Amino acid sequence: MTTYKLLLLPGDGIGPEVMAEVEKVVGWLGKAGLATFETETDLVGGAAIDTHGTPLSDATLAKADAADAILLGAVGGPKWAGVDYELRPEAGLLRLRKDLGLFANLRPAICYPALAEASALKPELVEGLDIMIVRELTGGVYFGEPKAITTLEDGSKRAVDTQVYTTAEIERIAHVAFDLARKRSGRVASAEKNNVMKTGVLWKEVVTRIHREHHSDIALEHVLADNCAMQLVRRPKQFDVLVMDNLFGDVLSDIAAMLTGSLGMLPSASLGAVDAKGTRKALYEPVHGSAPDIAGKGFANPIAMIGSLAMCLRYSFGLGDAADRIEAAITRTLASGARTRDIAKAGDAAISTAEMGDAIVRELDAGG
Ligand code: NAI
Ligand code: MG
Repeated sequence: MTTYKLLLLPGDGIGPEVMAEVEKVVGWLGKAGLATFETETDLVGGAAIDTHGTPLSDATLAKADAADAILLGAVGGPKWAGVDYELRPEAGLLRLRKDLGLFANLRPAICYPALAEASALKPELVEGLDIMIVRELTGGVYFGEPKAITTLEDGSKRAVDTQVYTTAEIERIAHVAFDLARKRSGRVASAEKNNVMKTGVLWKEVVTRIHREHHSDIALEHVLADNCAMQLVRRPKQFDVLVMDNLFGDVLSDIAAMLTGSLGMLPSASLGAVDAKGTRKALYEPVHGSAPDIAGKGFANPIAMIGSLAMCLRYSFGLGDAADRIEAAITRTLASGARTRDIAKAGDAAISTAEMGDAIVRELDAGG
C-alpha cells in the first residue's frame, strides 16, 4: 500500500485541539488498513511567529512543497494583532496558497439531516442540501495591482484595489468546476457580474467556451452574483456546483456556510494544478478560524477538521471509499445525538472536542 506524506500544521487557537482529533482518525485509517500515512507536524501562523519570527518559515514551506498533502488547523488570534501586516499569522496561510499555486478552493456546504434545525433557514429549505462552491483563490481583487492608499493634495485619501483575471486563470478554475460536477449532479452555475465588470464579461466568455469545447455533457447556467446571493437564501437546493471569482467566492461561501448550521462543521480544500505525474499540491483546512473565544476550553467542534481529512482522501489520494466512511461516521455520530456546544440546542448537554473525536472513531469502528 502507498504511504502518503501528510504535513500537519495545527496553527493557533483551537487549531491544535481539532488537529488532535484528526490524528485519531488518521490512526484509525492505518489500523483499518485503508491508508497509511507518514505524518510530520510543524508550525504556522502565530505559533511560528513566536518561535521563528515569521508566520511561515522557508523550512516549513519546503516541507509543505514535499508533502503529498497538507492539513491545516487555523491561524491568528488577538495575541498577534499588533504585528506588521506582512508578518501577521494570516500571511503564513496566504504564502502557502500563493507559493504552492493553490488556485482552486472547494467549499462544500452540506446540511446533515440531524442539524437541519440549526440552519439560519427553515429546515425544509436546507434538509439534504449538498452544494459545492468552487472559489478562485489566487487571483482577483485580493492580489491585483495597483493596490494602495494614497494621500491626495487636500489631505484626504484615495484607496484602490484592482480586480484582474486572465484567460488562463479562468480556464483552469472552470475545468475544476466542470470535472467536479461530472462526479456529482452534472450541473454547474457560474456567478459573476458581467453587467458591470469587465472581469465578469471575460469570466462568462471563458467559462462558456470551456464548457462548449470540453464539458458539453454538463449543464451550465450563468447567474449574476447578487442574484446568486438571493437564491442561496431563497432556494439553495437549486444549486450543485457553483464557480466564481475570489471575492464573490469569499462572500457567497460564507452565506452558504450559514445555511448548514455551524462554522464548526465545514471543511475545505485548496488545490493546485495537476502535474505531469497526475498529482497536485493540496491543502485541507476547516473554514473556521482559530476561535480565540473558545480556545483551550474543549468546546471546539472537530467535525470541520475531520471532514477536511475526508476531502483529502477523496481529492488527493483517490480514496473515495475511505472518505465516504468518515462522512458516514460523522452522519451517524450526529444522528446519535452527539453535539459539541456550537451545534447543541440551548439548554441541551454538550460533549467536548475529544469526546466528539472519540465518538466518530467509535462509529468508524462500528462500520456500516
Ligand atoms: P472564527 O471562525 O475563529 O470564529 C467565529 C465564531 O465561530 C466564534 O464564535 C467561534 O467560537 C466559532 N467557531 C469557529 N470554529 C468553531 C469550531 N470548530 N467549533 C465551535 N465553534 C467554532 O472567526 P473569527 O473569530 O472571526 O477569527 C478568529 C481568528 O481566526 C482571527 O485571528 C482570524 O483572522 C482568524 N481566521 C483564520 C482563518 C484560517 O486560519 N483559515 C479563517 C478565519 C479566521
Ligand atoms: Mg471569508
